[in-house]
Amino acid sequence: MKTLIVLAHPRRQSLSGQVADAFATGATAKGHEVEFADLISEGSDPVLREADEPDWDNPDKVYSAEVRREMARIERNEATVMVFPIWWWSMPAILKGWMDRVWNNGWAYGARQFPQKRAWMIGVCGSNAAAYAKRGYDGAIETQLGVGILDYCRIAERRMELLYGSMEGDAKLHQILAQARSLGESF
Ligand SMILES: Cc1cc2nc3c(=O)[nH]c(=O)nc-3n(C[C@H](O)[C@H](O)[C@H](O)COP(=O)(O)O)c2cc1C
Repeated sequence: MKTLIVLAHPRRQSLSGQVADAFATGATAKGHEVEFADLISEGSDPVLREADEPDWDNPDKVYSAEVRREMARIERNEATVMVFPIWWWSMPAILKGWMDRVWNNGWAYGARQFPQKRAWMIGVCGSNAAAYAKRGYDGAIETQLGVGILDYCRIAERRMELLYGSMEGDAKLHQILAQARSLGESF
């Protein structure tokens, strides 16, 4: 399956970048083809301006050239996997802005449906699973991102995966990268 891997991190060699690579290694080993979108190094603009504001009365609104290029990048793939660090129990603003602009009315939701049937999100968490469970952040993230975005866009094969404990030492880092690779293999 041709897969767009969207990375939202200021450093390509960050753990999130390595998670994206490990996922890609696993996925390509199983015959998938991957293309990377590194939003920050590409200079992606997260601010939704008037040109990309949805017109609720017009599902055929023509969005900005940048957004149309991003839509085409998704359309030439069959699946999308977004890899990002969890910042403030959510996604980084760069990815949020990319979704605000690109996953737009009449294309991702509304009169039409997101053009791929599979989209995953992989969030890299500083804290461990117990810390997330203690305050319900795990469920909140699943509801907000998994249901609120992926299910809202009627993506049949959706998954919101959290990889926990990036700030808990080397053993955890190895475990996170192994998990990322195995997610790629199971894709
Ligand atoms: C602005 C900011 C906010 C963060 N918020 C959270 C958070 O809410 N929960 C959490 O588990 N980790 C949080 N972290 C830690 C990141 O998740 C951690 O840096 C990341 O998992 C490490 O991988 P990286 O090398 O890809 O940054 C935050 C980090 C930053 C920089």
